[in-house]
Amino acid sequence: MEKIKHKITVMSGKGGVGKSTVSVNLAVALAEEGFNVGLLDLDLHGPNVVRMLGLNDKLSVDNGEILPAYYGTNLKVISMAFLLEEGAPVIWRGPIKTTAIEQFLADVRWGELDFLVIDLPPGTGDEALTLYQSTSIDGAILVTTPQVVALDDVKRAAKFVVEMREAPLSASKDVRILGVVENMAYLRCPNGDVVYLFGKGGGERLAQELEVPLLVKIPMDPKAMEMMDKGMPPVSFYRSTEFEQAFRELVGKILEELKGES
Ligand SMILES: Nc1ncnc2c1ncn2[C@@H]1O[C@H](COP(=O)(O)OP(=O)(O)OP(=O)(O)O)[C@@H](O)[C@H]1O
Ligand SMILES: [Mg+2]
Repeated sequence: MEKIKHKITVMSGKGGVGKSTVSVNLAVALAEEGFNVGLLDLDLHGPNVVRMLGLNDKLSVDNGEILPAYYGTNLKVISMAFLLEEGAPVIWRGPIKTTAIEQFLADVRWGELDFLVIDLPPGTGDEALTLYQSTSIDGAILVTTPQVVALDDVKRAAKFVVEMREAPLSASKDVRILGVVENMAYLRCPNGDVVYLFGKGGGERLAQELEVPLLVKIPMDPKAMEMMDKGMPPVSFYRSTEFEQAFRELVGKILEELKGES
């Protein structure tokens, strides 16, 4: 993993707020900018990344190393889903899970990457802890929806990231929160009106409270959801929309945040 310049985790406190959506579309958008990108799906219990990218590869192994699947020419993808039968639940717990993740992290042949985007399950369980302890993570993106319950939870995820800088066993001493992504921030009606389904300004308030930037507001868009289900990432298949625009903006903000670090 030393040949990876930036390792970015996508986190939240709460489930279903759009981490996988953000991970997938961010990775595709970075790849479209010409960067060499990796996308790692560490959600053992609900790996969605493979479906969202329309991949159906099985895991391939060479010389004891796991080879990522490719999406296009410069996006490499590894998911726990490659290890599982379709639809099979994962019943690994505690130590088995930790060992599996550590081995998984060590055994993937990523090659040289500019960015590795890591999709995590909600919260700060074994997956997040193992990852931060064994790998030097640079940055965390916190995904939230605007309502207050989600905000409370994401604050816990933020605290976890900050603690990882000090924790004795952590490999992520320089990690920082790159900012907040407010997903499902609004819905644009066919007549152009905007509806704030989950309230307004929640992402901004959270960013202020955590003293980190609000990176972007992503609209709720039922068509984007349909495309994710079909394995067609909206950032490349649903052009000239506010949804796509939001991800271009997110890439710009992340490049800006990381400027000066190599
Ligand atoms: N901006 C959006 N507009 C419309 N649908 C969205 C949007 N963001 C996410 N969704 C949909 O909401 C559902 C949950 O999103 P996603 O799987 O990305 O969340 P998650 O945080 O990764 O969930 P989990 O915690 O289960 O991993 C998916 O069906 C996704 O397509
Ligand atoms: Mg997910």
